Amino acid sequence: MVRDSARPPDDLRGLPDRHGRVARDLRVSVTDRCNLRCRYCMPAEGLPWLAKPEMLTDDELVRLVGIFVGLGVRQVRLTGGEPLLRRSLVDVVRRIADLDPRPSIAMTTNGVGLDRLAQPLADAGLDRINVSLDTVDPREFADLTRRDRLHDVEAGLKAAAAAGLTPVKVNAVAMRGINDHSVAELLQWCLDRGYELRFIEQMPLDAQHGWDASTMISADEVRDRLAERFTLTPLPAADRGSAPAERFLVDGGPETVGIIASVSAPFCAACDRTRLTADGQVRNCLFSQRETDLRGPLREGASDEEIAGLIRGEMWRKAPGHGIGTDAFVQPARPMSSIGG
Ligand code: 5AD
Ligand code: SF4
Repeated sequence: MVRDSARPPDDLRGLPDRHGRVARDLRVSVTDRCNLRCRYCMPAEGLPWLAKPEMLTDDELVRLVGIFVGLGVRQVRLTGGEPLLRRSLVDVVRRIADLDPRPSIAMTTNGVGLDRLAQPLADAGLDRINVSLDTVDPREFADLTRRDRLHDVEAGLKAAAAAGLTPVKVNAVAMRGINDHSVAELLQWCLDRGYELRFIEQMPLDAQHGWDASTMISADEVRDRLAERFTLTPLPAADRGSAPAERFLVDGGPETVGIIASVSAPFCAACDRTRLTADGQVRNCLFSQRETDLRGPLREGASDEEIAGLIRGEMWRKAPGHGIGTDAFVQPARPMSSIGG
């Protein structure tokens, strides 16, 4: 049933939308800055970063996360940009872990600097980690990220495992002509070290608008490439829940690999995500053409109830799907690095 008011009716609690979904997973971009320049994300020269006064302070960020938790959010994922570049990150994690009820806390990072921060983050309450690593070939890594930091990422992954942030997950994007021929090598590398690898299709979210459906490496293509070296047995879809990855046992298991067809087989119908940008805007989707400002009202003295009403109004408007590939699709003006992947 599609209900047609600007706000959800009072009898629907939490963060429902018009299409029957309820958001429980909040992704927070804690900074839009990054120390890598991945080709699917940013131009070589970087982006005009947010100025400090535009960013949420720690107090503002933790207060907003608390309001989301009051609205039923049960998992908070810290992202960026590169979240480790926020100096107060460990403290922010500790304060989120103090919320009641305590949400589970995850982070998506590029791993640079994680060797020093993994243990303090785990001690502060971080539960899970995803490290983005697209290739273990140093030349391909430098080509794709435009930085020579592969060793830092390897050290970060090791430190994450040592700190008990297990199973350590690795996220990879395959790009044609850059790392598409080394996906099996990456899987073998992760299997050897006990990291759980997931591939994700490249989405039209790069600041330079260079995405092209015809050059994207599809989930099917990744699977075919992996199948040249490994036997992949699909796990039943019922085990997936709202998790978007199709998972396969590798060579009979128990190890698995995930492949996320975010573009070619979108999981929008089961999406339970909501997003908070580094400058305090709530977005109901990565691909939304609009957002609702929370920072302004917050700084003007709005109550928790007023802010909760703004968040509920934004989520209620969530579109049924992203529509990538349709004529109506328009890439969002904001790049991934400031939305929070
Ligand atoms: N398409 C798919 N994934 C992307 N990421 C960044 N930009 C894109 C894109 N255009 C990934 C990063 C990281 C996570 C935050 O999103 O590699 O794993
Ligand atoms: Fe940085 Fe992540 Fe963008 Fe790469 S994808 S440039 S690591 S924010």
